[in-house]
Amino acid sequence: MTLLDDVVDVAARTRNLPVLKTERLTLRAPRHDDIKVIALLANDRRVAENTTRIPHPYGADDARDFIEAANRRDDEASFVIVLDNTVIGACGVDPRQGGPEIGYWLGAPYWGRGFATEAVRAVIDYAFGELCHDALAAGARVSNPASRRVLEKCAFQWTGVRLTRIRAINSAAPVDRFRLDRGLWVSLKSWGPARRVA
Ligand SMILES: CC(C)(COP(=O)(O)OP(=O)(O)OC[C@H]1O[C@@H](n2cnc3c(N)ncnc32)[C@H](O)[C@@H]1OP(=O)(O)O)[C@@H](O)C(=O)NCCC(=O)NCCS
Repeated sequence: MTLLDDVVDVAARTRNLPVLKTERLTLRAPRHDDIKVIALLANDRRVAENTTRIPHPYGADDARDFIEAANRRDDEASFVIVLDNTVIGACGVDPRQGGPEIGYWLGAPYWGRGFATEAVRAVIDYAFGELCHDALAAGARVSNPASRRVLEKCAFQWTGVRLTRIRAINSAAPVDRFRLDRGLWVSLKSWGPARRVA
């Protein structure tokens, strides 16, 4: 199979996602030519152990599986996060047992610059705006304050702690659970900045 066949094949089996633009980032559907960079960035224990489904070690076959499984359902959206034409991570929303859930990770060289918050906000707007979800869930391991902070900056509310299976450690770990309701999102979006009149 040629690269072009691969691209056509993925496009034919997955639904079309829009491209989301933020101040610094572009979010678009993953494609086969992202395999190398996704495998490079995700093959990091610090990434895998803080997500539920990323295995460790993580290779090209895992990246291919992720790309080929992405965006098959109408209520799912999986984006790669692109900075200056370079893929730096992934972010999306997909249906889980308790309803739609937001997930995200960034390659370690890109941590600490606000990129996760910027990308997650774009996916939240898409999930409430285009997918018409009523509420979104998210989780962060209790040992992951950076992720917890991302969710707080996106207005998620803490709802409790749940033991959750983490594939990379082949075990369960306590995970802080969060929820964001459509009503809160609407009120935050309509609030806007105060205008100076004099
Ligand atoms: C969690 C992760 C997505 C954060 O990405 P990021 O782009 O660095 O996040 P942001 O810069 O948008 O925000 C991080 C916030 O956490 C804070 N933070 C970082 N490390 C922290 C720590 N050890 N303790 C407390 N806060 C911390 C930062 O200061 C920042 O908050 P601020 O803007 O109020 O200063 C990234 O580290 C990552 O991909 N980790 C591995 C995978 C993962 O955890 N995915 C989330 C699954 S739930």
